[in-house]
Amino acid sequence: MILVTGGAGYIGSHTLIELNDAGFDFIVLDNLSNSSQEAIKRVEKIINKKITFIKGDIRDKELLRKIFSENEIDSVIHFAGLKAVGESVEKPLIYYENNVCGTNTLLEVMKEFNVKKFVFSSSATVYGEPEKMPVTEDMQTGIGITNPYGKSKYMIEEILKDLFISDNSFKIAILRYFNPVGAHESGIIGEDPSGIPNNLMPFISQVAVGKLPKLRVFGGDYPTKDGTGVRDFIHVVDLAKAHVKAIEYLNNNDLNEPLIVNLGTGRGYSVLEMIESFEKASGVKIPYEIVDRRPGDIAEIYANPNKAKKLLGWEAKRGIKEMCESAWKWQSEHPKGYEKIENEK
Ligand code: NAD
Ligand code: UFG
Repeated sequence: MILVTGGAGYIGSHTLIELNDAGFDFIVLDNLSNSSQEAIKRVEKIINKKITFIKGDIRDKELLRKIFSENEIDSVIHFAGLKAVGESVEKPLIYYENNVCGTNTLLEVMKEFNVKKFVFSSSATVYGEPEKMPVTEDMQTGIGITNPYGKSKYMIEEILKDLFISDNSFKIAILRYFNPVGAHESGIIGEDPSGIPNNLMPFISQVAVGKLPKLRVFGGDYPTKDGTGVRDFIHVVDLAKAHVKAIEYLNNNDLNEPLIVNLGTGRGYSVLEMIESFEKASGVKIPYEIVDRRPGDIAEIYANPNKAKKLLGWEAKRGIKEMCESAWKWQSEHPKGYEKIENEK
C-alpha cells in the first residue's frame, strides 16, 4: 500500500490513475489547502473504484502515526507542498514550515514505522541558473535559486541525501519535474489554480476561455530563439506514469544512493511557441503583449531525460499538441475548474 500525500492536487490526482492502472493500492492524505476533494471523486469515476481519502496535514504527527499504524503502508509518494513561487517570497516561513518541516515530520514517522521507500516531487528549480543546456542530474544544485519555494525543494533534497547516509535501508527517489502541463484525456480532471494563475499554461487557458483578457509575456529580449523564455513542458500524464516507474524501481533495486532523475521531454519550447500551439489546439486567438521580464526568471531550461530512460525505462510520449489539446478540453469543459462541478451538484 502506497501513501500518496498531496494526492488531491494537480499532479497527484493524475498519478492516482496510473498507480491504479498498474495495480497498486494507495490511500491519499491531503489537507485540501490547494485542491478540492472533487478531484478525488473524479478520479474515482475514472478508475471506477472508491479511494480512501484522509483530509489532514503532513505536519500532524499524531495523524501520521494513526495512518501508519492502521494501514500496511510500504512506500510514500510525497506530492504535498506549497508551490506558488511569488507567494513564497512574501511568506517564506510558511513555505519552509509546510514544505521542509512537513517533509521532515513525514520522514520521522516513516522511520518510526520502518517505512523506507520514498518518492519525492522535486523541481528543475533546484538547478538555479544552469551553466549549460540540457541539464543533467550531476550538475550543481542550490546555487542561484531565487525564491524560498525553490530553496525548500533544494533543502528537502539535502535532507533526503543525509537521511540515506544515516540509514541506507531507505530507498529514495528524487524526481526533478520540469514544467508539467495538460490534463487527463477524459477532460474531467486538470489543473485548477486558485486565483489568477502564476504559470503560463493555466494563464493561456483562462485567456482562451475568456476569464482573463490577455496574456502578459514576461520578457521578449532573452537570448533565446524568439526572445521569450524557453521551458521543457511535460504532459502531466507522462509525468504521472514516471511515478509508477519510480515505485517499481525502488521495489526491484538495491540503491547505494538516492535515485535522482530529471523528468522532462528534453525539448524546449518558447512562450510564443506555446501560444501558437494553444491557438491551434483551441481555435481561439490568444491576445498577448510583451512586457518586462519577471524577476527571478531564467531565459531557458530543458532537461536531458536520458537517465530516466536508462534507469526507469521511462520517457515522455506526448507532445506539445496533446499538452495543449488536453489542457483546452479540461478548461473549456470546466471553465470554473472544480468549483463549477461542486456547484452543479
Ligand atoms: P498542487 O498544489 O496541485 O498539489 C499539492 C497538494 O498538496 C495540494 O492538493 C495541497 O492541498 C496539498 N498540500 C499542501 N500542503 C499540505 C500539507 N501540509 N499537508 C497535506 N497536504 C498538503 O501542486 P502540484 O502541481 O500537483 O504539485 C505537486 C508537487 O510537485 C508539489 O510538491 C510541487 O512543489 C511539485 N512540483 C510541481 C511543479 C508544477 O509546476 N506543478 C513543478 C515542480 C515540482
Ligand atoms: N510566463 C509568461 N507569462 C505568464 C506566466 C509565465 O510569459 O503569465 C513565462 C515565464 O516568464 C517563463 C515561462 O512562461 O518564461 C514559464 O513560466 P511558468 O511560471 O509557467 O513556469 P516556471 O518555469 O517559471 O516555473 C515552473 C513552476 C515552478 C518550478 C519550475 C521548474 O512554477 O514551481 O517550473 O520546475 F519550480
